[in-house]
Amino acid sequence: MTDRLRLGVNIDHVATVRNARGGDVPCPLRAARLAEAAGADGITAHLREDRRHISDADIEGLMRQLSVPLNLEMAATDEMQAIALRHRPHAVCLVPERREERTTEGGLEVAREENRLAHFIAPLAAAGCRVSIFIAADPAQIEAAARIGAAVVELHTGAYCDAHDAGRWEDRDAELARLTGMAAFAREKGLEVHAGHGLTYETVPPVAALPQVRELNIGHFLIGEAIFRGLEASILEMRRIMDAARG
Ligand code: PXP
Repeated sequence: MTDRLRLGVNIDHVATVRNARGGDVPCPLRAARLAEAAGADGITAHLREDRRHISDADIEGLMRQLSVPLNLEMAATDEMQAIALRHRPHAVCLVPERREERTTEGGLEVAREENRLAHFIAPLAAAGCRVSIFIAADPAQIEAAARIGAAVVELHTGAYCDAHDAGRWEDRDAELARLTGMAAFAREKGLEVHAGHGLTYETVPPVAALPQVRELNIGHFLIGEAIFRGLEASILEMRRIMDAARG
């Protein structure tokens, strides 16, 4: 029996819908409280530099009102570091950000920026935040994440999910093999392993089954599915599938 896999629910896209009309509804905090009640082990929110979905006020509200841990996703910029140090969320996940991208397209190039990132994460870790780095399933990135002292790596599952969604089965299997190998490699390096991006009821089982993976962060699919079956039911079904895959 492996450890119970944690589910972090990403509420960014509740804010996307709210911001489409510029008002207060639907409220991401209300979604976070519902997710908590449905058994989410944590809430994830990405405060982007362009504030296209989650706002500064959302982060303040989440910090005040949540009883489960907040995982704050952010770019490695001075502005974001100051915000994280002010709020001291349970976890900070560093992600690459480009304004023109629709979503977080790749992992962070830790190996290329090792020195800067080591200095960047030190005060966050000293403030008590668990620092996670969102990376591609690539040994050079994992080694660099371990060297800079990150506690966690989150493996980007986007390439695996894209291949699955497009019916490119050989690519999908190759991506899954890469995730499998790199989850084990990251663990060997002493890193806690998380995974996420693009996961759905169909794509989650083999990732949930990886024994080294301790947490999945899932957003877009769950918020979309909530339109049809409600947020609580959409989360409960994800939980059920994750637990079944975990055995
Ligand atoms: N993990 C990280 C680091 C992310 O940036 C995102 C997307 O914001 C997710 C997980 C969740 O991805 P999705 O919304 O596709 O489930």
